[in-house]
Amino acid sequence: EKGGYDWFMLKEIAEQPRAVADTLLGRLGEAGELVLDEVRLSYEDLRGIDKVFVVACGTAYHAGLIAKYAIEHWTRIPVEVELASEFRYRDPVLDRSTLVVVISQSGETMDTLMALRHAKEQKAQVLAICNANGSTIPRESDAVLYTHAGPEVAVASTKGFLTQVVACYLVGLFLAQVRGVKYADEVAAIVEDLRALPDAVATVLESMEPVRELARSLAGENTLLFLGRHVGYPVALEGALKLKELAYIHAEGFAAGELKHGSIALIDQGTPVVVVVPSPRSRGSVHGKVVSNIQEVRARGARTIVIAEEGDEDVVPYADHLIRVPRTPTLLAPVVTTVPLQVLACEIAATRGLDVDQPRNLAKSVTVE
Ligand code: M6R
Repeated sequence: EKGGYDWFMLKEIAEQPRAVADTLLGRLGEAGELVLDEVRLSYEDLRGIDKVFVVACGTAYHAGLIAKYAIEHWTRIPVEVELASEFRYRDPVLDRSTLVVVISQSGETMDTLMALRHAKEQKAQVLAICNANGSTIPRESDAVLYTHAGPEVAVASTKGFLTQVVACYLVGLFLAQVRGVKYADEVAAIVEDLRALPDAVATVLESMEPVRELARSLAGENTLLFLGRHVGYPVALEGALKLKELAYIHAEGFAAGELKHGSIALIDQGTPVVVVVPSPRSRGSVHGKVVSNIQEVRARGARTIVIAEEGDEDVVPYADHLIRVPRTPTLLAPVVTTVPLQVLACEIAATRGLDVDQPRNLAKSVTVE
């Protein structure tokens, strides 16, 4: 069943180009429009939305954090992202003009289900992004957009995550389309860029041998730090979570801009720091700022592991290890930059002799609150 791989997780990582392609299949029209008739929310209701909440747990929450950047940029609707386990305990402001997007691979996560029930009680419209057909969360939601990742067996989510991120893009672009688009040209161009994602993921997967080698050299570490900015920040959080759950190594993800506000004190001689570098084309010179961060941590002794797109030469002098990913539009970059972090965590865990598919203390779906 593992298709020749040692672990389901490796198989599922390898399936990502296909999973992403299947999640896009039939949903991108010829003229750059979104075809999401399956999302059974009335256009009138969608036009009336003045606020979006994205609610999820764990890795799905990280997909939600990425969704915020994309949905706000494309639609200009304010988006809040919240951990499902916190959501209903703080009396969020919800009404009919609120869209609550719940994200769950399994569709059975109790925290997310309880958040969704709370949202419905408050009369919000609930759209589920889910991978498991007919599971509880989509059944109780007003509408559903399925990810087509196929069954995910490994406890650590990989293809589930990538397809959730893609589904979030589809939701954002669909909302933009229904409501009238501010950046019409940009949205049409992004639809073309989405079509290129499966090949981009395949390209990343082809060049993972150096990452595996690097992982083997990191297996004895006690702590790893992950830095990112803009959509790279949730990617850093996801990289850290993968490492914690698989390798039982302390790992933390930081927003690179927060470094100087405290966390830089953690950097010691040899501390491995993974940096997810934004595209040099990103807004507001964040690229240059992250390059400075790499310089700063390295000057304090860090061993820098840099994930940067092809052609970004600015990072070269400061990277102890450089992992290249294909050039991808800023908002879509998480679909490619997450992949090396999955491989890294998986290989570190395997080197440590751990059960990659079934980490200690964890269950595939968490059906208690
Ligand atoms: O099935 P769900 O997407 O609702 O699961 C949410 C989290 O429990 C899940 O993503 C968890 O964090 C994974 N173990 C991460 O790899």
